[in-house]
Amino acid sequence: MNCADRLVVLFGSQAEVARQFRLDRAVVNNWVKSGYVPARWAMEVEHASNGQITAAEVLNEATARKPLRMKSRPDGESLFGSPLTGNDTMNDFAPAKRINSFHPPQRTLMGPGPTEIHPRVLTTMSQPAIGYLDPVFVEMMEELKTLLRYAYQTKNPLTFPISGPGSVGMEFCFVNLVRPGDKVIVCRNGVFGGRMIENVERCGGTAIVVEDEWGSPIDPQKVEDAFKKNPGVRILAFVHAETSTGCQSDAKTLVDIAHKHNALTIVDAVTSLGGTPVLVDEWGIDAVYSASQKCLSCTPGLSPVSFSERIVADVKSRKDKIHSWFMDMNLLLGYWGASTRTYHHTAPTNSLFALHEALLLIREEGVENCWARHHRHHLALKAGLEAMGLKFLVKEQYQIPQMNAVRCPEGVDEAAVRKTLLNEFGIEIGAGLGPLAGKIWRFGLMGYSCRPDNVMLCLSALGSVLSDMGLPVHVGDAESAAHGAYAAMHTKAAQVKKKNIAKAA
Ligand SMILES: Cc1ncc(COP(=O)(O)O)c(C=O)c1O
Repeated sequence: MNCADRLVVLFGSQAEVARQFRLDRAVVNNWVKSGYVPARWAMEVEHASNGQITAAEVLNEATARKPLRMKSRPDGESLFGSPLTGNDTMNDFAPAKRINSFHPPQRTLMGPGPTEIHPRVLTTMSQPAIGYLDPVFVEMMEELKTLLRYAYQTKNPLTFPISGPGSVGMEFCFVNLVRPGDKVIVCRNGVFGGRMIENVERCGGTAIVVEDEWGSPIDPQKVEDAFKKNPGVRILAFVHAETSTGCQSDAKTLVDIAHKHNALTIVDAVTSLGGTPVLVDEWGIDAVYSASQKCLSCTPGLSPVSFSERIVADVKSRKDKIHSWFMDMNLLLGYWGASTRTYHHTAPTNSLFALHEALLLIREEGVENCWARHHRHHLALKAGLEAMGLKFLVKEQYQIPQMNAVRCPEGVDEAAVRKTLLNEFGIEIGAGLGPLAGKIWRFGLMGYSCRPDNVMLCLSALGSVLSDMGLPVHVGDAESAAHGAYAAMHTKAAQVKKKNIAKAA
């Protein structure tokens, strides 16, 4: 009896075989008619039959019935050489389920990151791999550092991407700067300030926490008071743009306060870099980190960092051993420094090509234009969301364009709205975190995702979902408000242009 017939006997019917293999019955019928099971099902047959029909039997039978013809193989020789015996090509770890290549669906990414990636960046990323010490790659690394300095608006020589997500950039700053026993003021007004506290404690420091409400900016007066109350604080750490709430704090004022008290600063610019100004040199930031998957619109997994020369000297003067080998600045500089290129770890080369291209796009657009674009589309999205009656979590003057957090209306199933947007419209938006879970939606407008087509699609989809759920939302009002906002911006820009021409004449 051939393997196809044996399967039918084993499972009782062709229909049952089809069910086992999640196939159409016609396919199984074809196996029976042709008298063999195609070779690609060998592994599944062995699993499904609990080894009663071995993969080798299926392969041998299929090869005999339908020999594979390959030009590189002499005629008559089977693909698998001499007939296989037993099941020595299989092992217990082989997946029972048939696994195909992964093809992600097309999504409109309007959450807190990752964002959509520009086609130019995707193309660059799929170029052939080269070695991380290849002279061509090394040249690209130097350009990458220059482009990053532009994005950060700094001349800091130590400006480079750490291999790892934003959390790794955060740890890089803390492990290098915080010594055991150090007092560090950490501001917490959302999720990520909390992570900074963890980092201080794990480095053996003492965290002095300045709390502000989630959705409010860091209060500079509270920071000033904390410095006065705690002499000897060495570092102030804060998040510039809190992704969990969409609120931005006044980085310049906070850095000034720290410097007045002779303290250093660690600034989280994960969500701000590329979306709103991060002026490292002008504001005097000492250590800053970001992430590749937010307004830089690159693949996740890289964390651009920048240290002032004062910090570099400070870290170099440490007598104690930095307790992370991977993130020890002195060792990493052996690879990323200007003069040396020695192996530290295998750099994620293709991701770095991608970051180079993503930063080049910002350079081509102009970083000021990039900030302006984020602001423009935020105004249109905001007009639309407010036209639907939705209220922003954060007061207007502290809102960041790239992360728009709005309160979910009373009685609306917050998660169901997100689910419908994803399943029916392919749009991903963010949920609330921590105390805001179930209470807000977060609409990201970051990097390449920050486009008018995304704004309009999102408003239209949300209006339709909310209206279907019985909310008194008039479909079309949001789009019309967004159009109105764009029109007002165009008129204003035209007037400014006219004035400038008149002035120049
Ligand atoms: C403000 C902020 N800091 C740090 C992180 C951590 O970055 P990652 O998820 O890339 O590790 C995030 C991530 O969303 C963030 O928004």
